[in-house]
Amino acid sequence: MVWKGRPPRYEGPRWIERPPFEAKGGLGRRSFLKLALGAMGGVISVGVGVPIAGYFISPILRRKRVRSWAPLGGIDGFRFLEPKHVDFEERMKDAWITQEVTRAVWVVRKGEEDFRVYNPHCTHLGCAYGWHTSGPHKDHFVSPCHNGIYDIDGNVLGGPPPRPLDTLEWKIEKGELYAVYKDFQLGVPQKKEL
Ligand code: FES
Repeated sequence: MVWKGRPPRYEGPRWIERPPFEAKGGLGRRSFLKLALGAMGGVISVGVGVPIAGYFISPILRRKRVRSWAPLGGIDGFRFLEPKHVDFEERMKDAWITQEVTRAVWVVRKGEEDFRVYNPHCTHLGCAYGWHTSGPHKDHFVSPCHNGIYDIDGNVLGGPPPRPLDTLEWKIEKGELYAVYKDFQLGVPQKKEL
C-alpha cells in the first residue's frame, strides 16, 4: 500500500508498560536483594563472631577446670627414702567435659606421714626423669635429655634445670595417699601453674 501525504498518526499506546516486579505476587527484586544481603551478612557475622567469642570465653571456661584428689595407693606401699614412680588415672572436669587422663608422679616418703610428690617432668624442657639406684648418679633423680641432676628433695645439683622439681599438693586419708596433679611452665626459674 502506498500512502499519499502524511501517514495517519498512531494513536495507540506508545509502549507497553511492564507491571512492577512486586505486582506479580512474589518478592520484589529490591526486597529479594535486601533479604539476600541480610542473610549473607548474618552468615558472615556468625562465622567471624563465634571464633572471636570463643577466644574471649575460653579462658573463662579454662579457669573452671576442676582437678580432683587422685589416690596414689596406701602409704604402707611407700618405703622411706625410696622414690617410687606411680601411674594413676586422673578424672578431670574442664567446663562441661569430664575425661580420664593417665598421669604419673614421683613419690618420696620422708617420714611416717611425711611425703613429697613431684610432677614427673624435668623443669628444664619437660623430659621424664628417673631415680638412679646405681652408677655415677646413684640416689639422684636424672633427666637424661640434658643431664639435669636433682637430689631426693628435688633440688638441682647439675645441668640446665632452672628450678627444683615441682612439688604437688598431697594428703593422707584413711591410710591412703592422695595428690592433685598439676603441670607447670617449663624452662623458667619460677614455679608457675599452667
Ligand atoms: S629436659 Fe631435663 S635437663 Fe633438659
